[in-house]
Amino acid sequence: MCGGCLMANWIRFLTFFLCVALTVVLGIASIWEGWLLLPVLVFAGLSALGIRDVLQKKHSILRNYPVIGHLRFILEDIRPEIRQYFVESDEDEVPFSREARAIVYQRAKNVEDKRPFGTKQRVNGAGYQWLTHSVVPKKIENKDFRVHIGGPDCTQPYDASVYNISAMSFGALSANAISALNQGAKMGGFAHDTGEGGISRYHREGGGDLIFEIGTGYFGVRDEHGNFDPDKFAVVAASAQVKMIEIKLSQGAKPGQGGMLPASKISPEIAEARGVPMDKDCISPASHSAFGTPLEMMAFIKQLRDLSGGKPVGFKLCIGHRREFMCMVRAMLETGITPDFIVIDGKEGGTGAAPLEFANHMGMPLVEGLTFAHNTLRGVNLRDRIAIGASGKLIHAFDIARALALGADWVNSARGFMFAVGCIQAQACHTNHCPTGVATQDPRRQRALVVPDKAQRVANFHKNTMKALGDMAGAAGLDHPSSFQPHHLMMREKERNMVTGEEVYPYMPEGFLLREDDDRFGYLQRWRRAASASFAPFDQGV
Ligand SMILES: Cc1cc2nc3c(=O)[nH]c(=O)nc-3n(C[C@H](O)[C@H](O)[C@H](O)COP(=O)(O)O)c2cc1C
Repeated sequence: MCGGCLMANWIRFLTFFLCVALTVVLGIASIWEGWLLLPVLVFAGLSALGIRDVLQKKHSILRNYPVIGHLRFILEDIRPEIRQYFVESDEDEVPFSREARAIVYQRAKNVEDKRPFGTKQRVNGAGYQWLTHSVVPKKIENKDFRVHIGGPDCTQPYDASVYNISAMSFGALSANAISALNQGAKMGGFAHDTGEGGISRYHREGGGDLIFEIGTGYFGVRDEHGNFDPDKFAVVAASAQVKMIEIKLSQGAKPGQGGMLPASKISPEIAEARGVPMDKDCISPASHSAFGTPLEMMAFIKQLRDLSGGKPVGFKLCIGHRREFMCMVRAMLETGITPDFIVIDGKEGGTGAAPLEFANHMGMPLVEGLTFAHNTLRGVNLRDRIAIGASGKLIHAFDIARALALGADWVNSARGFMFAVGCIQAQACHTNHCPTGVATQDPRRQRALVVPDKAQRVANFHKNTMKALGDMAGAAGLDHPSSFQPHHLMMREKERNMVTGEEVYPYMPEGFLLREDDDRFGYLQRWRRAASASFAPFDQGV
């Protein structure tokens, strides 16, 4: 452990230690100076509070910052403009507002999540969005909403929940966070995406359904040169816990960027899960070595499906050059090989660490990426064979309903579930000093995250979010959230004019790309320039 970590670790306990030391010193001194008894009582009280903080299981921040951690809760309750000096920058500088996170915390704790006095949203402003309700609402009893994933070539289809834990690798997250997420998924009957860091013992111990993600590092299924190893893959994919296989092409927060886990952060468990040595930096290249063209990519999908005994195989990407996605679709048509699912990640997605320019300005936002992929598959009559997942800041029932209305079959969330396991958005994921033990490999810090307590919160968050989603679908007069359509979504484009999702994000007609008879939104010109044999453009366009 580096000098900085050691210091950072002890500083966390400094206030507590000081209280104990002062209690002892002043206690002795009070034998001679009776008036010191009052401060002795105060510090003894604070010391007792500190002991309680270290031993209690509910609040990670107090386990990691005994006594001083209470300041956070006090500041939470007083006005934000004071709070920001002590805790975090103001609302505009954090991905999720305090209100947005508060709902997640309440649903995770199974406490009342209703709001009094009406909305705080600027309903008269441009950009405001809402869903239309019905005068004949429905009461949906069973809120365990599922989607069937598996195309014609898949022999082991999976009935997934419409809300699952998005990819976050063991390494980006702590062992305790992975355990809590996976045990929560097991309790709630939903899936947990491994992220590109391989399947760890903490995933296995939890027993929850896994979506095994394969990134450019082929962690857990690689040979000594870092290339894909089919034999190792067949063994890993045969596990009953593995329900689906996901090839990671990119994630919204850092599209086209590989990753690197410094050797100093590689613990024996991470090395075991990834199949990498501990004495070298662990590199994820920017692109795959197992395929280089759309046709090769389809062959790789077929290989994985065969090696996994027919489990659903798909890929995840943030839409970049739209023509490249169309190249993949052309290869699907020419080979007859189709993925069972595609996950569209929005540029607004999260990550453990990404360069600012990438985090801010590379990759397509979710709504546009999702609509584009959905319509391209409709354009070639492949939409029914391929399920679409969506991710990118989808933590409330409205976010999920909107994604389903715009073409998704299910939704994944990463940071929503991070909040459920205690993340306070300290944005210290890249420092190894996460204050709540969620995104750190420091065993002392992750001690703060008590797995059984947080696993229950993960399951609660999922259950209560599905309940809210069911209530919204019922209010709209629907039997299931997957019946949300673009016309259910309304938005105020400018101060005065109101438009429907159907006008802005319409479903394009089935087969329009094959017939080449509808050139709205520029699909056709890109389709004509897409090729199955190469991702490279055969002219200057993208
Ligand atoms: C800490 C962290 C680690 C992540 N690791 C991965 C990963 O290994 N593979 C991947 O495809 N996406 C990864 N992501 C992206 C998420 O899976 C997800 O696509 C994105 O964050 C959008 O979801 P969200 O807005 O609900 O967080 C990670 C995100 C976070 C916050």
